[in-house]
Amino acid sequence: MKAPLWPLAGLFLAVSVSAQTVDPMTVYDKGGANPAAVACAFCHGAQGEGMAAAGFPRLAGLSAEYMRKQLADFRSGARANPIMQPIAAALSANEADAVTTMLASKPPPHVERVDRTALPDGPGEALALRGAWARNIPECVACHGPSGQGVGDAFPPLAGQSAQYLASQLTAWRQGSRNNDPNDLMGHIARSLTEEEINAVSVYFAGLTDTGAAK
Ligand code: HEC
Ligand code: HEC
Repeated sequence: MKAPLWPLAGLFLAVSVSAQTVDPMTVYDKGGANPAAVACAFCHGAQGEGMAAAGFPRLAGLSAEYMRKQLADFRSGARANPIMQPIAAALSANEADAVTTMLASKPPPHVERVDRTALPDGPGEALALRGAWARNIPECVACHGPSGQGVGDAFPPLAGQSAQYLASQLTAWRQGSRNNDPNDLMGHIARSLTEEEINAVSVYFAGLTDTGAAK
C-alpha cells in the first residue's frame, strides 16, 4: 500500500504551487478568487492612477509595504471605510502580496520640484513647507519628502493624490475613523488643523503633479 500515496503528494504540490502563483493582473482587472474582492481597476483606474473626482486614491508607485499595511488596517478596523474593509477582508494574503507588488512597480506621476527657500505662496504651501510650530504642527515635507513625493515604506506620497482624497483622510483622522499610525503622528496633526487649512494643504499637494489629479 505504498503506491497510492504518490497521487496525493502530487495533489498537495499542485495546490501549494497554484497558491503561490497568483496573477496580479487578474486580481487587479477581474477581482480575487472570493467575489467580494472586487476588481481594483473598477475604482483605482486602469493603470492604478486613481479617480480624482470620486476620491479614489492613486495606487501606482506607492510602496508595496505601505499598501499591505493599509489592507491589514482595513481588515482590523484601525482604518474604517465601508468600501475597502470588505474588499481587504476578502483578498487572500497571496493576492494582496501579488497585487501590491505589481502596483508598486508602476511609475509614479512626475512631481514638480519645490523650492523650499522661496517665500510660501498662500496658507497651503506655508503649512506644507514651514508647518505651524506655534501649534506643534511640523511641516508636512519633513516626513512626506521634499516635494511630498513620499519616503520609503512608512510615509506615503501626498503629491499626485487628489485634493478630495487627501482632505478625506485628514478628516478621517480628526473624526477617529482612521486611527492607524503607530504614534498618532497624523492624528495629532489632523486634529490641530482647521477645515480651511485641510482644504488649502490638500489643494496644494494635489497641484504638484502634471497628471490633473487636482481637477
Ligand atoms: C468600489 C471601489 C473600490 C474598489 C473596487 C477597490 N478600492 Fe481600494 N480604495 C477605495 C476607496 C474609496 C479608498 C479610500 C478609503 C478611505 O477613505 O479610507 C481605497 C483605498 C485603498 C488603499 C489605501 C491607499 C492609501 O493611499 O492609503 C489601498 C492600498 C487599496 N484601496 C487597495 C485596493 C485593492 C488592492 C483593490 C482590489 C483588490 C481595491 N483597493 C479595490 C475604493 C475601492
Ligand atoms: C511626523 C511625520 C509626519 C508629518 C510631519 C506629517 N505626516 Fe502625514 N503621514 C505620516 C505617516 C506615518 C502616514 C501614514 C500612516 C499610516 O501608516 O497609515 C501619513 C499619512 C498621511 C496621509 C494619508 C495618505 C494616504 O495615502 O492615505 C495624509 C493625507 C497626510 N499624511 C497628510 C499630511 C499633511 C497635510 C501634513 C502636514 C500638515 C503631514 N501629513 C505631516 C507622517 C507624517
